[in-house]
Amino acid sequence: MNIAQVLLFILPAYIANATPVIFGGGMPVDFRKKFTDKERVLGDGKTWRGLLAGICFGSLTGFVESQLCSTAVLSLSVCLTDFLPIGIVLSLGTMLGDLAGSFVKRRMRIKRGQPSLILDQLSFLFFALLLSIPYVPSGFLALNSLVFLVVLTYLLHVATNILANRLGLKKVPW
Ligand code: CTP
Ligand code: MG
Repeated sequence: MNIAQVLLFILPAYIANATPVIFGGGMPVDFRKKFTDKERVLGDGKTWRGLLAGICFGSLTGFVESQLCSTAVLSLSVCLTDFLPIGIVLSLGTMLGDLAGSFVKRRMRIKRGQPSLILDQLSFLFFALLLSIPYVPSGFLALNSLVFLVVLTYLLHVATNILANRLGLKKVPW
């Protein structure tokens, strides 16, 4: 995959990961329940509204991309696959990875909102890629693309969190 293809491919996951910060709030996914270790199952940072927003906007991104391909707004060279199913599974995987990350953070007694380098930045990417495997043509995601995605995701995560903090969307810059 070239850079344009990789970026188009991963965009639904990034949108799914970013939109909960804006639309989240209300009832937490874990209904404020505690786990056997007496810590919250997931914590107040994971809400139903955020979860639904991530899945909807991420899938919508895939839909828009597939429309831009089928109407030839985007050139055929970057439209190697149907972006709608990809967008849906990437969004589902992103939100699943995000929940899994918080679950593990709580088990490690890391408080809601406290940073965890690997879990915050890469668990969503890992789950998104994992779920997308059945939908991408073989050889579509080569090792160099994966390394590029890990580095890009890490840098974007740091940059967007600083931005969200400056905009007053997040209390802490991570
Ligand atoms: N958010 C949400 N619902 C989700 C995911 C995120 O409402 N499913 C919102 C919350 O307001 C959350 C913010 O987006 O505080 C940032 O998300 P994230 O960094 O993933 O959550 P944290 O608050 O850092 O919580 P955790 O320590 O569990 O990662
Ligand atoms: Mg966080």
